[in-house]
Amino acid sequence: MDKKITLITGAAKGIGLATAVKLAEDENNFVIINSHRDLSDDEKNSIKEQMNNEIDFIVGDVSKDEDANRMISEIVEKYGQIDALVNNAGITEDKLMTRMSEESFENVISTNLVGTFNMSKYALKVMQKKRTGVIINMSSISGLHGNVGQANYSASKSGIVGLTKTIAQEGALRGVRSNAVAPGMIRTAMTDKLSDKIASDFENKIPLKRFGKPEEIAETVQFLISNDYITGQVITVDGGLTI
Ligand SMILES: NC(=O)c1ccc[n+]([C@@H]2O[C@H](COP(=O)([O-])OP(=O)(O)OC[C@H]3O[C@@H](n4cnc5c(N)ncnc54)[C@H](OP(=O)(O)O)[C@@H]3O)[C@@H](O)[C@H]2O)c1
Repeated sequence: MDKKITLITGAAKGIGLATAVKLAEDENNFVIINSHRDLSDDEKNSIKEQMNNEIDFIVGDVSKDEDANRMISEIVEKYGQIDALVNNAGITEDKLMTRMSEESFENVISTNLVGTFNMSKYALKVMQKKRTGVIINMSSISGLHGNVGQANYSASKSGIVGLTKTIAQEGALRGVRSNAVAPGMIRTAMTDKLSDKIASDFENKIPLKRFGKPEEIAETVQFLISNDYITGQVITVDGGLTI
């Protein structure tokens, strides 16, 4: 296929879906949406209706090495290559550190950090062979600055920053770039879980006085994919919250 084959993990909703919509606006991109459960035909149709171009779906749990390996292999078998990988899949299990179980710590590390490692590892092998490709990872301001109640999440998102910089250094030898985005408070199912009080406290603290839109993260991902001279960087998109 002539088009740029782009896989976005956890892309059936939220920031991942907005990124899929944005990248599919360009007819040179062929977008593949990963979800960790099989979507119904209705769900797939409703996603397809939002896209400008034809897309494909692939099911798999990013935290499982065998799923990551299978997904990348299937894509390469079907489309011949993978040009861009957006590691977007992520979860939260917030609790104060002293009350957080080891299981909860491991769950979040496993999906967010190990998942990003698994997918990147198999994609990088293919990209390095082709001497081209880009991997964009979803970090968070919580990974750069920490956050109360997010020991597991901030550790995972901080790990993603180190991973991104390492992929950038190893990948550069063979034409592969990697960058990360560190969103602040973005309106999705993830932040809908916050109480009204916490949400409005955040809104007051954010200099631009509002949560971000998933589309604003999608635009940043698109920029980081398309600029050939940016690698190993983390772009914060948070309305000024961490100034
Ligand atoms: N929203 C924010 O304010 C914010 C801020 C900073 C960073 N982020 C990061 O941005 C990314 C997207 O977040 P979002 O706000 O769009 O959250 P979201 O709406 O909850 O979307 C997360 C997606 O990841 C999928 N997912 C979870 N575990 C997975 C797994 N093991 N394998 C494959 N997919 C999996 C989810 O699928 P299911 O729904 O089926 O579980 C869901 O589609 C995450 O990495 C998040 O940490 C978000």
